[in-house]
Amino acid sequence: MTILAKYTQLRESYHKMAAIGRDPFSVQFDGILSPTEGMLNGRRTILLGTNNYLGLTFDQSCIDKGVEALVEQGTGTTGSRIANGSYTGHGDLEKALADFYGRQHCMVFTTGYQANLGIISTLVGKDDILVIDGDSHASIYDAAKMTTGQVVRFRHNDPDDLYKRLRRLSDHPGNKLVVVEGIYSMLGDTAPLKEFAQVKREAGAFLLVDEAHSMGVLGETGRGLAEEVGVEADVDFIVGTFSKSLGAVGGFCVSDLPDFDILRVACRPYMFTASLPPSVIATSLQALKRLREEPGLRLRLNSNSRRLYEGLRNLGFQVGPVANPIVAVALPTKELAIAFWNGLLEAGLYLNLALPPATPNSLALLRTSVSAAHTPQQIDTAIELFAQVGRRLGVLPGLVQAAE
Ligand SMILES: Cc1ncc(COP(=O)(O)O)c(C=O)c1O
Repeated sequence: MTILAKYTQLRESYHKMAAIGRDPFSVQFDGILSPTEGMLNGRRTILLGTNNYLGLTFDQSCIDKGVEALVEQGTGTTGSRIANGSYTGHGDLEKALADFYGRQHCMVFTTGYQANLGIISTLVGKDDILVIDGDSHASIYDAAKMTTGQVVRFRHNDPDDLYKRLRRLSDHPGNKLVVVEGIYSMLGDTAPLKEFAQVKREAGAFLLVDEAHSMGVLGETGRGLAEEVGVEADVDFIVGTFSKSLGAVGGFCVSDLPDFDILRVACRPYMFTASLPPSVIATSLQALKRLREEPGLRLRLNSNSRRLYEGLRNLGFQVGPVANPIVAVALPTKELAIAFWNGLLEAGLYLNLALPPATPNSLALLRTSVSAAHTPQQIDTAIELFAQVGRRLGVLPGLVQAAE
């Protein structure tokens, strides 16, 4: 028996899925033309599944800053900050993020995944309790695996359930860290953060909000859900990523906790991996500046999100509960979702296929993410393609009749 034998079942279901058409988990673009278009098998394809919320991946000022840093400082740091030292850009970006969030401290990580993994697993020690939403991102679940503390899950977006669980733990002497997300990455739903903040206050717990999908999207200045609903003072730690609204790669955590910087010599996913290359730091710093200086990007994004959400909902598709930039369409079966995804791709529309067990309630989802860079015409084309494929596959029976 080989060491990979345990993956036999996974391999079989993976192959079965890939046999229906293209392999949704190894799409390879021939080229990327813009934040919203790529070439795939020689075909111009609309990109509607890239989390490129502000469309900054081709922003000329970001590119210029990245090129400048690349030329002046080289391709990489070739080690971690505790071993190889930091470049000025690392500190500048941390200062800029702390300033943006109005916090004292910031730590930058090499990915958003590592930011959650590192911060959460290091904050929660063996006598503490980590309390997470049941629909948490894999990086939060993996932090839960890594922590030496106890882990408690509460029902997704349910403040009453969180309250009950924290009350049961009230005699426990350790610290409690509650972790939620601003916008959830599969269905695009937002956390009831006001209610969570109240529960956190009553229980004397700490609160961490992962604003990966809400930074640059929600809030008057784009700081995320906590800003949008006015509870920033109750949030002890904000985690975010550079891989979505900032169009790069990397992650961060900001906090006002006085001794926060001690984590730099305690947090293994910060200490034992190479730091971000200067070019990535430079583009992220410039993208943050663009985010702050151009609220119009956010307005365009939100207008595009509403256009897509309402367009798909009006066709009769089952979409998530809120018109956020993540618009997910639920289909009755996995097989139908795979066929639908293939149909859209053949028609020139790329988005994400999300299947159980990676989805909430075992839903089969076509997950889209909208960008400020999409034109209204691109959004309308996407809606039309959904309608065409939906009719062809009989997912929209009313429309099948209307079309005949
Ligand atoms: C909610 C959430 N947190 C963290 C991450 C990890 O971010 P990154 O891809 O930048 O590592 C993701 C990635 O999709 C996410 O959806």
